[in-house]
Amino acid sequence: MKCVEIATTTGPDGLRLAERPMPTVGPRQVLVRVHAASINYRDAMILSGGHARGVDLPRIPLSDGAGEIIEVGSEVTRVKKGDRVCGSFFQRWIDGPVFPEMQNHALGGTAEGMLTEYALLEGDGVVTFPDHLSYAEAATLPCAGLTAWHGLIEAGGLRAGETALLLGTGGVSVFGLQFARAAGANAIITSSSDAKLERAKALGATGTVNYATNPKWAETVVSLTGGRGVDAILDVAGGDSTRGALTAVRHGGFIGIIGGRSGPGGELDRSFILRKGINVRGINVGSRAMFEAMNRAIATAKLKPQIYKTFAMADSVAAYKDFLTGKQFGKVVITI
Ligand SMILES: NC(=O)c1ccc[n+]([C@@H]2O[C@H](COP(=O)([O-])OP(=O)(O)OC[C@H]3O[C@@H](n4cnc5c(N)ncnc54)[C@H](OP(=O)(O)O)[C@@H]3O)[C@@H](O)[C@H]2O)c1
Repeated sequence: MKCVEIATTTGPDGLRLAERPMPTVGPRQVLVRVHAASINYRDAMILSGGHARGVDLPRIPLSDGAGEIIEVGSEVTRVKKGDRVCGSFFQRWIDGPVFPEMQNHALGGTAEGMLTEYALLEGDGVVTFPDHLSYAEAATLPCAGLTAWHGLIEAGGLRAGETALLLGTGGVSVFGLQFARAAGANAIITSSSDAKLERAKALGATGTVNYATNPKWAETVVSLTGGRGVDAILDVAGGDSTRGALTAVRHGGFIGIIGGRSGPGGELDRSFILRKGINVRGINVGSRAMFEAMNRAIATAKLKPQIYKTFAMADSVAAYKDFLTGKQFGKVVITI
């Protein structure tokens, strides 16, 4: 089978096209003919050697992909041949809290990823996706989509009439905007680009702030809520933005700690947390149960993931390089 491998952790040029033998399906596994995969910032970090958990090389990259089951192991009963599925980011996190043994089996990191014609996955580690989605659209869900769903809805408990704040217009934040609107909540989003803020408005954002031209963006966010503050924030940025999140959140509100897109730092000032009674929680993508709940919501709302550009597998290096420009609004997808 054809696949892409990380040969060296030297950025996109460390990728190579490779040929591997077809995998043999074990009793509790499924074989998926992958049709599309998508890139997350985590994948770009892995490619540069900057990821906390060890990645053995050569490794097939990308956590996010979707395809059709072509073979099931003898003990697999929950899915069948022909099902259209996504791989679950943490193959062994089914439900409840996450433990290290689950985190240590992550697609495209400690386990082989989805940038391949055929992926051997756990029978318990796949999720069927809504009928109205293409493979390319479904391939955006496992990391970016699920992280936003977990943060805002499962952990943040966002409800109709409340307000979410999304920092920047990256993959997680755009899904956060869509989930907030689908839940009947308001969505304020920030960006360094006015053009991206216009795109966000077209997608339903109820408030927009340019964090690059407005150093007091957090105060502006509070004013957009009539002085109350926002109910739930996905902190994908870290750095100085975390202080902004502490300013923007309402008393008793929620901050999901997700990423460090704006760089290192982002220490939490305990005095804010204490005074405002803020609920802070670390978000690790999500479990299979959360993925299934998210897909039910996506099906009900007929929500469409935003795709920026699509590349062929042979052009994977170009796809990663395009992703790293940061110009995208929506996901970079690779079709296989
Ligand atoms: N904990 C988890 O389970 C988990 C899961 C997924 C992602 N993450 C992490 O979350 C972060 C976002 O991931 P992603 O895949 O959505 O990234 P992404 O798509 O690469 O996000 C890119 C966007 O981040 C925004 N950004 C950069 N600096 C910012 C700042 N100072 N303030 C606000 N926004 C800023 C920019 O938005 P504009 O161009 O609009 O300015 C940029 O376009 C990454 O650090 C990733 O590693 C963690």
